[in-house]
Amino acid sequence: MQEGAPLLLVRVVPSQKEHAAEDALAHTLSQLRATLESTSNGILVINWQGKVDSMNRVFGKMWALPDDLLNLQDDGRILDFVVAQVRESAQLRERLNAIVDDSETRDLLHHQDGRVFEVSSRAQYLNEQIIGRVFGFQDITERTRVEQALRESRDFLEERVLDRTADLHAANQKLEQEKELQAMLIKKLEEAQNQLLQSERMASIGQLAAGVAHEINNPVGFVNSNLGSLQRYVKDLLHLLETYEQTENALPPAALQQVRQVKQDIDIVFLQSDVTDLLNESMEGLKRVTRIVQDLKNFSHVDESERQLADLEAGLESTLRVVWNELKYKADVIKEFAGIAPIECFPFQLNQVFMNLLINAAHAIEKHGTITLRTGESDSEVWVEVQDSGKGIQPEHLGRIFEPFFTTKPVGEGTGLGLSLAYGIVKKHAGRIDVKSQWGQGSVFRVTLPRTIRTSR
Ligand SMILES: Nc1ncnc2c1ncn2[C@@H]1O[C@H](COP(=O)(O)OP(=O)(O)OP(=O)(O)O)[C@@H](O)[C@H]1O
Ligand SMILES: [Mg+2]
Repeated sequence: MQEGAPLLLVRVVPSQKEHAAEDALAHTLSQLRATLESTSNGILVINWQGKVDSMNRVFGKMWALPDDLLNLQDDGRILDFVVAQVRESAQLRERLNAIVDDSETRDLLHHQDGRVFEVSSRAQYLNEQIIGRVFGFQDITERTRVEQALRESRDFLEERVLDRTADLHAANQKLEQEKELQAMLIKKLEEAQNQLLQSERMASIGQLAAGVAHEINNPVGFVNSNLGSLQRYVKDLLHLLETYEQTENALPPAALQQVRQVKQDIDIVFLQSDVTDLLNESMEGLKRVTRIVQDLKNFSHVDESERQLADLEAGLESTLRVVWNELKYKADVIKEFAGIAPIECFPFQLNQVFMNLLINAAHAIEKHGTITLRTGESDSEVWVEVQDSGKGIQPEHLGRIFEPFFTTKPVGEGTGLGLSLAYGIVKKHAGRIDVKSQWGQGSVFRVTLPRTIRTSR
C-alpha cells in the first residue's frame, strides 16, 4: 500500500439479522430472570469455576444473606456463610464443589435455627458440555413438621390399637376362663343336685324297705318256729309209723289188706322220704327270706356296733380271702394299695361293702378278666376302688343300681340287694359311692370315706 494514499474507514454496523438475535436473547434472558424470581424456591447457579453465577432473591432471603456480603459479591464468603448454617456442612460443601458431576441429587439440610431445607441439584449443560450446576432450595419445615406430627399420631394410634387389642384379648381370655368356670360350677351343681335327688330317693326307698322288712319279719318269725315244730312232729310221726309197721303182720288179714291198700294209694315209701325233703327245703327257703329281710333292715338302718380304728387294706385282704373261691377262676386280682392310714369306722360292715363289690365285679366278668383293688387318701378322706374289666353297666341302669331289688341277673341269681346294702353302710359312714362304667368296657366303684364319722344316723 502506498504512503499518503487515502485511508478507507470501515464501520461495522450490525446487520438486521444480528439485531433480531440480540433481541431474542434479551427477551429470553428477561424471561429467565422473571421465572427465577417468581418461584418460591431459592435458586443458586454455580459455574464450572466454582463461582456463583446467579441466585434469586428467595435464596438470599432463605439464608438471610447480609447485605454487606451481597454487596461484596465475594462468592467464596457467600458459600462459606451458607455452608456454616447447616448441620450437614460437609455434605453440602461436597455438593457445591462437585460441579462437573452429571448426576442429579436431592438432600435434606437442617438449619441451625430449626428449619429444614430440601436441596436438589442438577448439572447445567451447553452443547453437551457441563458448564455449571443449578441448586434449588425448598423450605420444607412446615411439611416436615406436619409429616412428623402425622407419623407421631399414626404411631400413637397404632400403639393405642395395639393396647386396645391386647386389652380386648385379655378381656376375652378372662371371659373364656369365666365361662369355663361357670360350666364347671354348673356341672358341679348338677352333680350335687343329682346326688341330692338320689339320696332323697334312697331315703324314701329305705323307709319303704324298713316297713316291708318289719311286716315280713313277724310272719317269717312264726312260720320259722312252726316249721321247726313241724319238723319235730313229722319225725315223731314217722317214728310211730315205723313202729306200727313192725306190728303190721299181727293184724287180721282183712285189716292188713286195708292198711296195705291205703299205703299203696298214698305211696307211703315216697311220702316218707319226700316229707322230710320238703320240710328241709322249706327251712332253707325261709332262711333265704330271713337273709333278705336282714339285708333290707341293714339297708335302711345298718345295725349299730362299736366303731373302731381299722385298717381298710387289711379288711380288703381278709374279704378277698372270703370270696376267693368265687373269684379265682374269673379274674386276676391286682392290688394297688397306697398304704392308707387306719380310719374310724365299722369295719365289719365295710367288709360287707367290699364283698358285695367284689362279687359284683366277678359276676360282671363273663370269661376271664382283671379286678383291680386300689386305695388312696387325701387330707380328710380315704378311698377304696374296685375296678373290673367286665361287661359294664348300661347307661339307663346307672341311676338305679343302688335301689333295693334292682337286678339284671336271672331270677334266683341276684336279689338286687348287694349295692343297696353297700349304699346304706357307706351313707352311715357319711361317705359316698361313685360309679364310672362304660358298657362293654368295665366298671369302677369308688367308696370314699371321711377319716372320722360325723353322722349320727
Ligand atoms: N361291677 C358291675 N358290673 C356290671 N354291672 C354291675 C356291677 N355291679 C353291679 N352291677 C349291676 O347292678 C345291679 C345291682 O347290683 P346289686 O349288687 O345291688 O344286685 P345283684 O348283684 O344283682 O344281686 P345281689 O347282690 O343281691 O346278689 C346288678 O344286677 C348289675 O346289673
Ligand atoms: Mg350284687
